[in-house]
Order: sequence, then structure tokens, then C-alpha cells
Amino acid sequence: MRIDVVTLFPEMFGVVRDLGVTGRAHAQGRWQLHAWNPRDFTHDVHRTVDDRPYGGGPGMVMMPGPLEAAVNAAQQARAGQGLGPAPVALLAPVGRRYDQAGAEALAASDGLILICGRYEGVDQRFIDRCVTQEISLGDFVLSGGEIAALAVIDAAVRLLPGVLNDGDSALQDSFNDTLSGLLDSPHYTRPEVYEGEAVPAPLLSGHHANIARWRRERSLALTAARRPELIESARAKGWLSKLDERYLAELAGTPLPAEPGTRRRRPRKPAADAAPTGQNQPDTTPDSSPDPKPNPSDVS
Ligand SMILES: C[S@@+](CC[C@H](N)C(=O)[O-])C[C@H]1O[C@@H](n2cnc3c(N)ncnc32)[C@H](O)[C@@H]1O
Repeated sequence: MRIDVVTLFPEMFGVVRDLGVTGRAHAQGRWQLHAWNPRDFTHDVHRTVDDRPYGGGPGMVMMPGPLEAAVNAAQQARAGQGLGPAPVALLAPVGRRYDQAGAEALAASDGLILICGRYEGVDQRFIDRCVTQEISLGDFVLSGGEIAALAVIDAAVRLLPGVLNDGDSALQDSFNDTLSGLLDSPHYTRPEVYEGEAVPAPLLSGHHANIARWRRERSLALTAARRPELIESARAKGWLSKLDERYLAELAGTPLPAEPGTRRRRPRKPAADAAPTGQNQPDTTPDSSPDPKPNPSDVS
């Protein structure tokens, strides 16, 4: 698989090219990465790639010319390797949400040319002329397409044959058909007891069928709580067994697993300088004690 990236920040792609699973796979020649900087396809002394928007408004817009020239150079380089023309994907919040099926399709292909937008976005005429699909990472706005492109590449490369050490591990991940498209079950490692919390007993039993059943039930419970539509999709595909359905029916009468940060915690000891009881004290009952982890919005 060959990935070409059109980006103003080629150095950002060292993350997937040089590090971790994707870096090892790149060193083994299992995939190729080529970055094209639109500035290298400009003709003015300032190497200008953006300009003010027609109609006014804030910010700048990426000009179509340097982007199209970069795409053409990438397609020519691919042709030089005997590859056919690649689809051209623009990373964009308005695009189709990238998912596991998208990663699988990319991993099964010859590759893709990824366009990373910056500023307010790219000139629509470039999109109309050159782009075959628009890919979104989710309903939020990034400063540029690079982080989205890194996610697209990483999710696909780890699915290439021989990339993961344990050949089965991708099959056991969330959304995989082998897992009926459900969410993965929780994982535990040493120590067996951590801060008073023990590893669930079935995982220590050595009984493979019981372990598999425990994992399946955790997977069903988590999916029912957080992504019920994935349960519906698995059901529609006939991927839920009678045992699964019986467990889900039992679950329907029980409380759903807690989201991270809302887990029951033991009440903390009141601080020495705490306000006297009844005076603006936070409720420290187990269900409402605050999570010590900061919310992302708390981090400045
Ligand atoms: C600041 S954003 C522009 C957002 C654009 N004005 C909008 O509201 O849709 C700059 C670039 O970041 C990239 N980007 C931002 N959010 C993204 C997302 N959720 N998924 C994929 N790419 C994204 C796109 O390439 C975009 O051109």
C-alpha cells in the first residue's frame, strides 16, 4: 500500500513512518509514505499557498493551483511505480465519518492520496476537480487535516497482513466482524490485585470456555450501554447467539455499566480544613464523589 500525503507539515508524518507498529511495518517495506508540500509547487518568492476568501470573512483559504500540482506529482510518481491512479481524499469535517470499514477498505487497496487542509479550508474548485471523497474524523474541528490523516493511516496500516505481531489481535478489536462488530471487552494484567481491586475471577480460572463467555458478556454489556446501534446491527446480521440474546434480555433489567469517571468510588476522608457539615460541602456519597481526573476542558 502506498500513501501520498499533501501537507504543509510533512514532518508531522514521522509519527506513523518512524514509530511503533506502523513505523516497524514501514521499515519492513509493508507500506510506503510520500509527502508532498504544496509550497514546492508555487511560483512566487513567498511560496504562497493561501489567500483571502472571496466574499470576505475571517481566515485564509488554500489556493487550488499548488494543491492540484501536488496531486498530479503524486499520481505521476505512483504511475512510475506501476500503480494506477489513486483516489484522492480530502480530510474535512464535512466528509463521511471514517470508521473500521473504511480502514479495512483502505488496507485492502493500493493506497490513497490524502489532502490535509489548513486555515478555513481549501478552494472548492480544487475539490470539484481533483477530490474523489471527503473523510471526517468526527464532529469536531481540528486546526488541520494532518492529525486526521495520521489516524486514517494508522488504522489502515495495522490491518495490513503481517503488521501486528499477534496475527489475531486485530480480529479481537472493537468493531471487528470476528467480535460481531461489538465493542471490545475490558483487559487486565498484573498485578492480580491492584489498590484492593482484584482481576475478575473468570479470567484467572484457566477455563477457556468460561473466559470466552465472560468476555462476550462484557462486550455485549458495554456495547448495549454505549453503542446500542451496534447490537442492533449484529442482530440484523444474525451474529447474536441464543445465549447472547438471553444475556441481553437479563441485562435489560439491570443497571448499565458506568461510563469512565462516573464509577462508584469509596468516599474520601474529609480534608482537615473542610467546611463544617451542611455548609456548601460537596456531596461525598459514592455515586456523586467527583472524579479526580480533570476533564479535557479543564486542561488549559
Ligand atoms: C480549521 S479546519 C477548517 C474547518 C472548516 N472551515 C469547516 O468549518 O468545516 C482546517 C482543516 O482541518 C481539517 N479538519 C478539521 N477538522 C476535521 C475533521 N473533523 N476531520 C477531518 N479533517 C478535519 C480539514 O482538512 C480542514 O480543511
